[in-house]
Amino acid sequence: MAIATGTVEGHRPKQTSFEVERIREDFPILKRKIRGKPLIYLDNAATSQKPQVVIDAITRYYSAANANIHRGVHYLSEQATAAYEAARAKVRAHLNAREDREIIFVRGTTEAINLVAYSYGRKHVKKGDEIIVSAMEHHSNIVPWQMLCEEKGARLRVIPMNDDGELLLDEYEKLLGPHTRIVAVNHVSNALGTVNPVRKIIEMAHAHGARVLIDGAQSVPHLPVDVQDLDSDFYVFSGHKVFGPTGIGAVYGKASLLESMPPFMGGGDMIRTVTFEKTTYNDLPYKFEAGTPYIAGGIGLGTAIDYIGQLDLSAIAAYEHDLLEYATRAVSGLGGIRIIGTAREKASVLSFVMDGVHPHDIGTIVDREGVAIRTGHHCAQPVMKRFGIPATARASFAFYNTKEEVDALVRALLKVREIIK
Ligand code: ALA
Repeated sequence: MAIATGTVEGHRPKQTSFEVERIREDFPILKRKIRGKPLIYLDNAATSQKPQVVIDAITRYYSAANANIHRGVHYLSEQATAAYEAARAKVRAHLNAREDREIIFVRGTTEAINLVAYSYGRKHVKKGDEIIVSAMEHHSNIVPWQMLCEEKGARLRVIPMNDDGELLLDEYEKLLGPHTRIVAVNHVSNALGTVNPVRKIIEMAHAHGARVLIDGAQSVPHLPVDVQDLDSDFYVFSGHKVFGPTGIGAVYGKASLLESMPPFMGGGDMIRTVTFEKTTYNDLPYKFEAGTPYIAGGIGLGTAIDYIGQLDLSAIAAYEHDLLEYATRAVSGLGGIRIIGTAREKASVLSFVMDGVHPHDIGTIVDREGVAIRTGHHCAQPVMKRFGIPATARASFAFYNTKEEVDALVRALLKVREIIK
């Protein structure tokens, strides 16, 4: 019985062009009405929607193959284990990591960064060392490093950015030095949409002997990522932003680094032997995967990766780029709007403020028109402080969005203007 293998079974062959209407058919939620109006979902940076194949893979796993993995000799357990490990292989291939054991399944980007900060950081960071983050990080790529610095007596340093939301690499060069142990930056900013020059950032850090973690939460859904080409030491992302389930994500780490790191959590599956005197640990990747994992989530993520793998990714990137430019022109054209984040290289995100209107009011009024956007500080309070604002309204796009949906956002923003004069 072909179940829960994490493949897009019976799905169409690889596409060589991009037809948005055909793609939209794959996402059942896009047919929903909100308050009697068609759903216009523009909150993809918070979480993306799921294609039917991902929903089916999860249902199939629970209805036909549910069993614990790595533990049973029975048929179902072996089948579930094979499906979960197949998903790991898909993540490896998607990031072009060398080996499956370099992929650790975790709950998401936040847990991934905490794992690296706790395990690699606690082992290697000492008093007087320095950790560099950037001015446009999500809280999850600030707070774990701050906690580590506090514990170790290390110092957190910050790469500044310009008014367009671009990192200042000459200032970064000045921060690097003999005390730098770790550099942690995002590939794409969730609050600004900036695509950071991570290859250069990694190269500069390596020239000073520092290790680099790239937060790929907002890049993996939009850009091809090759961890070997980037020479990234760690690269982390969440499944739910790449059309997979919530509660699953991955750490990529170079095998030599992961081998040298102590476990993050203790429990079942991460051990080789346990006595009351001493425990020895399992091999990679299991050393970092204590307890029963989110098996259905891993399988769903594998299916999501299969799903995007059969799309024409370069056509999608061009389409998304065009859509973002169209939206930027249309929203700026309304007047009284300030776009926050005007970097030359951007992906997916359009953050803005409107004269005299609080972003939360924008979000509430456009929601009445069926348009879902996020408002607030986007878990990036230092970004808001840098731009002297409390919050933004943020529309964020995926490949299933259309120019007609951008037009609907614009009409909804005109309503905001009508209501709040
Ligand atoms: N980090 C997610 C966002 O930017 C939740 O909305």
